[in-house]
Amino acid sequence: MTYTTTASAAELKINGKTYHLPLVEGTMGDKAIDISNLLRETGYITLDSGYKNTGSCTSSVTYLDGRGGILRYRGYDIEDLAKNCLFVEVAYLLLHGKLPNAAELEAFKQLIGRFALIHEDMIHFFDHFPSHASPMSILSVMVNSLCNFYPEMSANPLEDFDETSTRLISKIRTIAAFSYKKSIGHPLVYPRHDLCYCGNFLHMMFDKPVRPYTVRPEIVTALNKLLILHADHEQNCSTSTVRLVGSAGVNIYAAIAAGINALWGPLHGGANEAVLDMLETIYADDSNFEKYINKAKDRNDPFRLTGFGHRVYKTYDPRAKIIKKACDEILRVLNVSDPLLDIAYKLEEIALHDEYFIERNLYPNVDFYSGIIYRALGIPSNMFTVMFALGRLPGWIAQWKEMHEDPATRIGRPRQVYIGEPARKFIPLAERP
Ligand code: CMC
Repeated sequence: MTYTTTASAAELKINGKTYHLPLVEGTMGDKAIDISNLLRETGYITLDSGYKNTGSCTSSVTYLDGRGGILRYRGYDIEDLAKNCLFVEVAYLLLHGKLPNAAELEAFKQLIGRFALIHEDMIHFFDHFPSHASPMSILSVMVNSLCNFYPEMSANPLEDFDETSTRLISKIRTIAAFSYKKSIGHPLVYPRHDLCYCGNFLHMMFDKPVRPYTVRPEIVTALNKLLILHADHEQNCSTSTVRLVGSAGVNIYAAIAAGINALWGPLHGGANEAVLDMLETIYADDSNFEKYINKAKDRNDPFRLTGFGHRVYKTYDPRAKIIKKACDEILRVLNVSDPLLDIAYKLEEIALHDEYFIERNLYPNVDFYSGIIYRALGIPSNMFTVMFALGRLPGWIAQWKEMHEDPATRIGRPRQVYIGEPARKFIPLAERP
């Protein structure tokens, strides 16, 4: 699929001279002005801090309409996918551009099963992190290290793509579960071939020699849904990082490790853990909602209502809508009563009726309710962002592949407007005041 360059052009007037910039239109009517020749023709660059209005690529992976609250992977509505699919089915869709048929899905599952172990030498790495090490730092280190054990992709990025992408999807799950086991000082639990992707993850996380863990289908369903809802989100911070780092020609593991590090931030994937901290703080503070709403609105206070707001959505995040409903359901099925859910409901209600949040179109995002589900499933809060990474991985890989296949790809290299000192005469050390 490609974009069209329309017959008309944007006109830009600089110092009385008019320049014509091609207009581009995507398959869903997204409109853009192509400025790729602007510098050459005019000497001007565009300035857009935070890339608020910059399209860095064309993509056919995910469609996002921030005003309409629409999210589609490869043309399929997120709601249909979350309701009807397994996470691995959606991973296949993102990687291959089509939903798998039964035989393709089975082959994909088999391949994931085959790659579930990590090299035994890598297991010693876990022993040398301090026990309080962040699972996100461990995850990025371990994923980066995979290139030394499975170097096939380093030479030709697109060769053996199926094997390497599946290997990553499978091994990241093992690494995540092992890092948890190590952090609590428990023996590692190895993957089982008879379990599905999510079931296997839960088994590796929670099975103990003294107390075998029974994988419950309701928990598997909830986990599938959460991972699907996180699987891609067009050019977000971590995906753009994967593309930017990947554009320098590094191996896929290095690019994905960079994405994991970007995701770690509390403004991005780290928000799910931060939301839970915030809800706990409010709960412990006698549910003083007014105090925290006022803090969030105060420009001089760094506190923000975490789990609220989004760069692109100016309406309710469609993922948050599904997660909120799922949260209610799973807590009921598991017979869990979590006071933090009531705090979250109340906080949302207050914010959605507050002029500050209304004016700025601030709604709950994907991270607002997800942590409460993870908590109900027994996943500790320092693993929440790791869960996000497991979900986002197929999207990162799909975007990385698309970038490598796109003939328009160049090394990512933004420009700047320099505002520092003009040229200065060098002062030798002995003469400096
Ligand atoms: N609480 C209070 N005020 C907010 C919030 C919030 N959560 N989010 C935005 N605002 C205000 C912001 O102060 C600004 O106000 P003003 O116009 O008076 O200066 C206005 O709304 C626009 O915000 P912005 O910071 O210019 O928006 P952005 O697009 O640069 O930032 C965001 C988007 C997600 C970083 C931001 O909304 C935020 O910090 N939210 C809390 C963190 C969070 O939940 N992150 C997860 C995002 S979704 C999942 C993901 O990406 O991983």
